[in-house]
Amino acid sequence: MMKIPSSEITPESIYRSRRQFMRGIGAVALAGLGLTACGAPADSFVAPEPGAVAGQADELGDPLNSYQQITTYNNFYEFSTDKQAVAPLARDFQTTPWTVTIGGLVKKPQMIAIEDLLRRYPAEERIYRLRCVEGWSMVIPWLGFPLRFLLADVEPQAGARYVRFETLLDPERMPGQRDAWYNWPYVEGLRLDEAMHDLTILSTGLYGRVLLPQNGAPLRLVVPWKYGFKSIKSIVKIDLVAEQPTSLWMAAAPQEYGFYANVNPNVPHPRWSQATERRIGEFERRPTLMFNGYGEQVAALYAGMDLRANY
Ligand code: MTE
Repeated sequence: MMKIPSSEITPESIYRSRRQFMRGIGAVALAGLGLTACGAPADSFVAPEPGAVAGQADELGDPLNSYQQITTYNNFYEFSTDKQAVAPLARDFQTTPWTVTIGGLVKKPQMIAIEDLLRRYPAEERIYRLRCVEGWSMVIPWLGFPLRFLLADVEPQAGARYVRFETLLDPERMPGQRDAWYNWPYVEGLRLDEAMHDLTILSTGLYGRVLLPQNGAPLRLVVPWKYGFKSIKSIVKIDLVAEQPTSLWMAAAPQEYGFYANVNPNVPHPRWSQATERRIGEFERRPTLMFNGYGEQVAALYAGMDLRANY
């Protein structure tokens, strides 16, 4: 039996519940919850003021990227393949109402309105490095909750071995989806144990604010030890499945993008090295860390696996 969202969804009620959610996370600036840069010309985007953050650096001591950097340099092919064009194109993308469906091999399939999801799983701050497969990186103070909380609540069946995620399919609202070269919607997947790992979060905000559309509002995955393309944006569907899902990138270029996509400086992309990266805001390239610096926490997931074959 599907659980139907309890409340009648109106943009106003969502706005109010988001406000309550933001209050719930504590020292968060509420001013300026209007999520667009009012008055900015259509072809530009100026980030609003960031909210408060608990920390100023990651655990390695590297400073956070700025809110401006994080919200204006984006990969979101549903809007544009031009990183700087994404934010202005996504500015008016409506993320209310929004429902997330969780099903497949679970005992308790659910349809949850985003405002109920935000209420049910309080957000915590996680400062993570994001390493894009293209060779750039940022340090981002995410707000979100461990995916394992949601998975535990839907109770995976014994046969569930993978989690499959899907982005909204709506070419009217996501103009990039009119590009027939890609097999829309954007799909990603994780092995169930990866999905259950405490580092894996569903993000609902960053820099003390709800997510802006360009960062994957209202709900996006963040898996910090994997290349950024695994961190699928604007999720509407989560399914527990028996077989390894085929992601959009695996379908588009299987020789270049595999299922695992663990950050690995020793395994080059077929067209470029992955040994170094450019931190956005820095000039010199820096060495890329195995598992993006999270090896201590996640290496055991891959014990005995050939990381070259399972790229
Ligand atoms: N999710 C969807 N639905 N569509 C995309 O094009 N791009 C991915 C990932 N998630 C993408 C996506 C890539 S390549 C990266 S590097 C990150 O989002 C970028 O996230 P950011 O723009 O919030 O930094």
